[in-house]
Parts: sequence; C-alpha cells; structure tokens
Amino acid sequence: MARRAIYPGSFDPVTNGHLDIIERACKLFDEVVVALLVNPGKAPMFTIDERVGILNEVLNSRFPQVEVDTFEGLLVDYAVGRRANAVVRGIRAISDYEYELQMALMNRRLCPQVETVFLMSAEENSYLSSRLVKEVFSLGGSIRGLVPDLVIERMTAKLK
Ligand code: PNS
Repeated sequence: MARRAIYPGSFDPVTNGHLDIIERACKLFDEVVVALLVNPGKAPMFTIDERVGILNEVLNSRFPQVEVDTFEGLLVDYAVGRRANAVVRGIRAISDYEYELQMALMNRRLCPQVETVFLMSAEENSYLSSRLVKEVFSLGGSIRGLVPDLVIERMTAKLK
C-alpha cells in the first residue's frame, strides 16, 4: 500500500524552508499531501484559495507525488480520513521542539495510529519563517532566495 504523509500548516506564504521539508518528505513517502488549515484564527496575508493556487503552481511541476488540499477541524481526523500513515512537521531549531512535541503528543493521544515524523530543515533555512518573511517584505527588505519567485510576485501585487 502506498505510504501517504500529511504535511499540515498555514503556508502564508510557502517558503523555501517548507519546500525543503516537502522534498525530504517525498524521499520517505510515496504520496505527500500538503494540507492547509482553513480558518486558523489568524488574519492571513493570502486567502486560502490564493495559498492553494501558489502551492499548486510551485509544487506541481517539481513534485509529482505531492497533492495540495485544505482541511478544517482536527488534524488527526483529517489524517485518518485521508488514510495517511504519518504527519510530517519541520523542525528548524530547538525552540520549535517544545511546541511541536506538545502537538505531536496531543495528536498521539487523540489518535495513536497516526505517527508524527519530524524532519530537520537545511541549516541555511533554520531561521526562515513565513512570519519573518512577511515582516521583512512589508518593511522593504529583500526576501529573494527565501521564498519562490512566484511568492515575491504575489506579495508585490498584494502590496500595491
Ligand atoms: O503552519 P502552522 O501554523 O505552524 O501549522 C499549525 C497546524 C495547522 C499544524 C496546527 O495548528 C493544526 O494541526 N491545527 C488543526 C487543529 C488541531 O488538530 N489542533 C490540535 C493540534 S494538537
């Protein structure tokens, strides 16, 4: 049976750090579902449809075994519904670990059959986050090389 992983998140916007994790997940799993949380209670820069569109454009040609989807409610319910074996999360620095461990253990309590797999991003991506990318961009700093060029285009269009 194909081994399927869910890579959940907000992806507002997708960064090269996310792509790094997706590339690593593709080596371990037959199928990777990039799953965007709908209504995370944050005020996003991009709507859910815009984020799905960006992810599809960035991922489709590069990673044929990746699918982009959205979910609402509990991640584990979505993972079971999608018959996934695992949830993938990226860990950048030790500071990520505490929150990620909390989530992984809560998810395990809710649904023991879904494993969480932590993947380490490349060192050069270890400081990268969607939040910082948005902050730097909104203050006029360069984010080239940190996100796909398409994201820069879409962010520039948003700002206008
Ligand atoms: O990119 P993010 O914002 O770090 O992703 C967080 C995400 C989407 C993985 C997390 O908020 C989540 O799984 N939300 C779904 C609701 C849920 O299952 N909550 C309990 C998690 S222990």
